[in-house]
Amino acid sequence: MTARIIDGKAVAERLRAGLAERIATLPFRPGLRVVRIGEDPASGVYVRNKDRAALAAGFDSATIHLPAETCESSLLALIARLNADPAVDGILVQLPLPPQIRADAVIAAVDPAKDVDGFHPVNAGRLASRQPGLVPCTPKGVMHLLREAGTPLPGARAVVLGRSQIVGRPMLQLLLAADCTVTVVHSRTRDLPGECRRAEILVAAVGQAELVRGDWVAEGATVIDVGINRGGDGKLVGDVAFAEALSRAAAITPVPGGVGPMTIACLLENTLEAALARRS
Ligand code: GUN
Repeated sequence: MTARIIDGKAVAERLRAGLAERIATLPFRPGLRVVRIGEDPASGVYVRNKDRAALAAGFDSATIHLPAETCESSLLALIARLNADPAVDGILVQLPLPPQIRADAVIAAVDPAKDVDGFHPVNAGRLASRQPGLVPCTPKGVMHLLREAGTPLPGARAVVLGRSQIVGRPMLQLLLAADCTVTVVHSRTRDLPGECRRAEILVAAVGQAELVRGDWVAEGATVIDVGINRGGDGKLVGDVAFAEALSRAAAITPVPGGVGPMTIACLLENTLEAALARRS
């Protein structure tokens, strides 16, 4: 079997075009503010891509870039101003933060109604208790891709590799809400390959280049690769050894061009949702 490649770039483009159409009918432009602190080069690339996509879809988007030595209280004061600004519907503070700033304190300071990352404990609690709220962008993008791929969800055995606050845990909640039978596996799990081989849906989100080998993948599985890592030759690779998995899976996302573009599209989707909820 050679897997079908799930084209995340094309799915994300369609999602963004749909958002642009909806925004064109609104009497206002949904406002997004991305806060970047310091000079982390990867963050620079992400933030520029977010800004470009947001402006192209008709959002009022701007990046606020602060120096690496910014103290926590200055950042909290900025967040308080953005929380109070009626033109701002979505606030995203790009992670990672410099060591003098506590990420938990920053995440908790964002108004949950403007928390387009879906990281605030109020939004995490809403997701876990199946109440409406803002959902983290990457796991939300994975659900879009699974639906686009036509993968049957109810009753499917799904394995999530990784237990992060940003991907693994919200992924568990979303797959469970879609009636999958979900197992979360991580660095302390015994027999990782064996657990992964049981998966009809395998979501890899550990940030280790090509950890998942071809023989970890069940014949006919749908494989979603969230990892974006630099391989030995400097090229971008996922958490899955793509060429090996290709001959076993039924469908697989590439890196780049799989989950990555969906994260930005879902950020924009969250910003529109936040704007409609706040301004209705
Ligand atoms: N850094 C890497 N991914 C993300 C993300 O989804 N949101 C934020 N705020 N920072 C990130």
